[in-house]
Amino acid sequence: MAEFIPVPPFDLVVFGATGDLSLRKLFPSLLHRFVDGQIPPQSRIIGVARSEMDTSAFRQMVHEAHLKFAPKDHIDEAKCAEFLKHVEYARVDATAPASEWGALKDALANGNGNVRIFYLSTAPSLFVTIAQRLAETALATPTSRIVLEKPIGRDLASSRGINDGVGAVFDEQRTFRIDHYLGKETVQNLLVLRFANMLVEPIWSRATIDHVQITVAEELGVEGRADYYDKSGALRDMVQNHMLQLLCLVALESPNSMDADAIRTEKLKVLSALRRIGPGDVASKTVRGQYKAGLVDGAKAPAYAEEVGKASRTETFVAIKAEVDNWRWAGVPFYLRTGKRMGARRSEIVIQFKDTPVPIFGAGAGAPNKLVLRLQPDEGVRLWLNMKEPGPGGLRIKTAPLDLSFAEEFNVRYPDAYERLLMDVVRGNLSLFMRRDEVDAAWTWADALLAAWDASGAEPYLYAAGSNGPTQSAVLLDRDGRAWWDPE
Ligand code: BG6
Repeated sequence: MAEFIPVPPFDLVVFGATGDLSLRKLFPSLLHRFVDGQIPPQSRIIGVARSEMDTSAFRQMVHEAHLKFAPKDHIDEAKCAEFLKHVEYARVDATAPASEWGALKDALANGNGNVRIFYLSTAPSLFVTIAQRLAETALATPTSRIVLEKPIGRDLASSRGINDGVGAVFDEQRTFRIDHYLGKETVQNLLVLRFANMLVEPIWSRATIDHVQITVAEELGVEGRADYYDKSGALRDMVQNHMLQLLCLVALESPNSMDADAIRTEKLKVLSALRRIGPGDVASKTVRGQYKAGLVDGAKAPAYAEEVGKASRTETFVAIKAEVDNWRWAGVPFYLRTGKRMGARRSEIVIQFKDTPVPIFGAGAGAPNKLVLRLQPDEGVRLWLNMKEPGPGGLRIKTAPLDLSFAEEFNVRYPDAYERLLMDVVRGNLSLFMRRDEVDAAWTWADALLAAWDASGAEPYLYAAGSNGPTQSAVLLDRDGRAWWDPE
């Protein structure tokens, strides 16, 4: 069992408790922390939703989710039953007046100093209303915390509205804006790799790096979220948050410490240096795509338009050439690419180094070094180096990886990102959560791009489900004499 830092007893209220995220991620993550003994026995977890049901029906729902989503070798009926004793249900309509919030008040009675957390896993349009009700009912205490799931709005204006409204009740130090990519092991490891190893930092700049690629490819389509997704699209759903956060961690300067604001200030500087993409360069720096029917993993997958039940211009794929205008990164493109219904689920960051200045082993011998950080699946780090192929008869160069597969190196179960993040909220550690000014900066950049796309009126390119996205995505790099790293 991995070591963990104990947390104080807590009361966690999950709004949107019957939703997909809650059942698929939040409750299973809490169960894992419980099984590992990290959740103190006095803690309570209160699911809140509009559905008419009682605690035992809700427990049943969480139990079924455990059976459905947990890997077969992690199903533990006895532990799950123990865990469920800490789970209650309060039926509350978040839009109802404060006088109708009695069920939650009752559930939170006798808190005995437990850390109080409100997790808003609902549509962002409810965030402000819920915060207001929590103030009116006095359930929000001066020390209670709020967790906001992404997306925080759909543009800068709506995100500011949410942050203002929520901020009127919960100050910044008590607001945890979650981006679950920051809870992924390899993502955190990026900071360790960069700042705990002397040999990495001196080569981490335009002097030696040619370009960076960040790919987040999914096999899944829009699943049951067509309504949300069609209004959102890949830029709002994945790039404005997850991908920009990954870019920030690759690009940031060394923070003075691991203090939350030290890290977040450095991320903000990167976001502020991100060059805006306007109408003049959307065509040369971005590609929007949408999947048509195809085969994913040998199974037929319908077209996006069929899944959402109408013709749509929403992008399910996006590729972007992003540029960071600062001394470290000037001239080093960050190619970002994300898409649904692609050939394989694969998220990785590729740091592509420059070629050696003089090819003393002959032109084309070996390949420029590459550092590949695999986020999922099979978390790990691979550094591709050129070596001499053993044997007599000439000097042949072979490119081979130095491979650090986390699963083999560290014999531990890989926790879900939410496990780490939920416990960080209880501990009050904001390092892996987005500060308000970061969200503003990310939206400012995304808004400019969205406006440029709108102005262009261009339709997304179609790509077959199960492919690597539209061919224009390959052209984006080809134009610069580069190519995506797509290992077989
Ligand atoms: C979510 C997006 O934030 O991240 C989803 O809303 C996406 O559309 C998901 O599928 C991807 O997360 P992960 O952890 O499976 O890569």
